[in-house]
Amino acid sequence: MAEKWTRDSWRQLPIRQVPEYRDAAKLEAVEQDLRRQPPLVFAGEARRLKASLAKVAEGKAFLLQGGDCAESFAEFSANNIRDTFKVLLQMAVVLTFGAACPVVKVGRMAGQFAKPRSEPAEVQNGVELPSYRGDIVNGIDFDAAQREPDPDRMLKAYHQSASTLNLLRAFAQGGFADLHKVHQWNLDFVADGSQGERYKELAERIGEALDFMEACGLTGDAVQQLRETEFYTSHEGLLLRYEEALTRQDSLTGLWYDCSAHLVWIGDRTRQPDGAHVEFFRGINNPIGIKCGPTLETDDLMRLIETLNPANEAGRITLISRMGSDNVERYLPTLIRAVQREGFTVVWSSDPMHGNTIKSTTGYKTRPFDRVLTEVKRVFDVHNAEGSYAGGIHVEMTGQDVTECLGGAQAIGDDQLSRRYHTHCDPRLNANQALELAFLIAEELKAQRIGNRRKLAAAASS
Ligand code: PEP
Ligand code: CO
Repeated sequence: MAEKWTRDSWRQLPIRQVPEYRDAAKLEAVEQDLRRQPPLVFAGEARRLKASLAKVAEGKAFLLQGGDCAESFAEFSANNIRDTFKVLLQMAVVLTFGAACPVVKVGRMAGQFAKPRSEPAEVQNGVELPSYRGDIVNGIDFDAAQREPDPDRMLKAYHQSASTLNLLRAFAQGGFADLHKVHQWNLDFVADGSQGERYKELAERIGEALDFMEACGLTGDAVQQLRETEFYTSHEGLLLRYEEALTRQDSLTGLWYDCSAHLVWIGDRTRQPDGAHVEFFRGINNPIGIKCGPTLETDDLMRLIETLNPANEAGRITLISRMGSDNVERYLPTLIRAVQREGFTVVWSSDPMHGNTIKSTTGYKTRPFDRVLTEVKRVFDVHNAEGSYAGGIHVEMTGQDVTECLGGAQAIGDDQLSRRYHTHCDPRLNANQALELAFLIAEELKAQRIGNRRKLAAAASS
């Protein structure tokens, strides 16, 4: 590790997953340009999110983080942003109402462009080209010009993030997220299915509760929480040149924040304790995530937490386990116990997507929805058994009616994947699957709450 942290101290250290830009002068000019752009988020907002995550760490709230695997320039539209936001609101309401648990809402949105890849190059019909690394780096088409990393894409990603965030802020605070509109968040293609019906029932019960509150004098005019919501943004902090350029010193506290998003996370492929990514992350004061896959050694996780959160500040670290449904019991308990033994305060979240990717018989990269549900259930069981709190979920999802993950109530089969397979990287849950998952988690949380109440009552009467 470098001695003194600076925005660019990561440049001295070994780094993985970096694109090779050919035009160094252009790259430098783009980075300079980005350094002059306004920050996308304000440090005070990142601090608020950290405070909310501290509540999650205490077991008093739940973290919902979701959005595209990779945002793209081609799929950028107000409707797409609105629909993903709607589904996140629906999931949040299912969790809040179904489980009586406050939900911290964080989009994988407004900046989720850079992708780590297992291979640096891709070969098709004997032709080798650089792998696609996300629209912020190069183009997805298998074409030499498209695959060439282009620094200008960083500026385009920045501007698209700014417009996305602008719309999200308007939705969150401008009346769209008003709880009285809970019925209207149901998307047409969801409304007729079983999840849609279930959601409608819940929306009716919420409507009744709102009527009751209004009769008691608690209206949207009086209670801000009924008419607005807090919504945060996040992405993998992979392309460090971009993250560095948006890292600014907060004038109020003198602390450094990566102002490209409220929360940034370190991916499973770039979490080497002596590597460049960890060096960059240790100096920024945002809440941060760490992906924890099956190859993560316990000692490395302990080093990571010590390096990234030496003061053991609550809300700073979210550990996002992504083991794969068959690996949860094998790897997760050891990590939980080590965290408990060291007395580290963390949020434990579950990413049930990235350990459950398979190739379908028809050649598509897909995820069986059953395995996604199974991973979540097993994560809840393991945390319950270890006396720790499964505090969040991290999903790749969209408001579009895609056919990318197998199964769910619509029973998407292998032969249907090709119908609406639009992702720029990994397969996402569609709105129906996302809602089904939210209902399952709400049940788990409710069962846990009832169990805890019983334990307390038993302890009080013994
Ligand atoms: C991702 O979240 O898109 C991702 C690449 O995850 P991981 O780092 O866990 O593989
Ligand atoms: Co992904």
